[in-house]
Amino acid sequence: MSNSIPDENKRPIRSYVIRSGRLTDSQRKAIENYWESYVVEFNNESLDPNKLFEKPQRLTVEIGFGMGDSLLEMAKQSPNQNFLGIEVHQPGVGKLLNGIVENKLTNIKLICHDAREILENGLPDNCIDRLLLFFPDPWHKKRHNKRRLVQPEFIELLLKKLNKAARASFRHRLASLC
Ligand SMILES: C[S@@+](CC[C@H](N)C(=O)[O-])C[C@H]1O[C@@H](n2cnc3c(N)ncnc32)[C@H](O)[C@@H]1O
Repeated sequence: MSNSIPDENKRPIRSYVIRSGRLTDSQRKAIENYWESYVVEFNNESLDPNKLFEKPQRLTVEIGFGMGDSLLEMAKQSPNQNFLGIEVHQPGVGKLLNGIVENKLTNIKLICHDAREILENGLPDNCIDRLLLFFPDPWHKKRHNKRRLVQPEFIELLLKKLNKAARASFRHRLASLC
């Protein structure tokens, strides 16, 4: 009898590790009180980015926003744009929820789920005007390379989600680095 695990039962390799029990009181309260208003539930069904916000506007998506400081600042500074933050780290989601409410922002929504799945099954092609991904991969050891979010297939997926202008700008920047 073989000991190998059938493919369908294998756990996918994730680019993050969820550590529980690290929420401050304020983050926990924000999650209890504001989650429903600002966090978009993802049930493997396609989302319509325009319908997530009060009005359709240019869309910036940040993947892995951490504690959310820069995303909050951008949303405050640009009320005429929409911001969608994707992060699996609940303390960061809680902290950002507090910032959203304190600043009465209506142009920002969050998704607390694996960004890879959101791109694969949640967001339609050509919908993102600007994509932000800062310091995504704290995986320095060679044996952890497979955990990295930024891999060729992920970039291919990202490119499909960017609109035409954002895709051209990405290719231009990439070419200037090579
Ligand atoms: C090294 S931290 C950088 C945080 C922030 N961008 C910054 O520059 O301070 C990487 C972040 O990406 C998040 N992350 C990693 N993989 C993710 C994924 N597949 N989906 C959503 N968030 C992810 C982690 O939870 C973590 O907060």
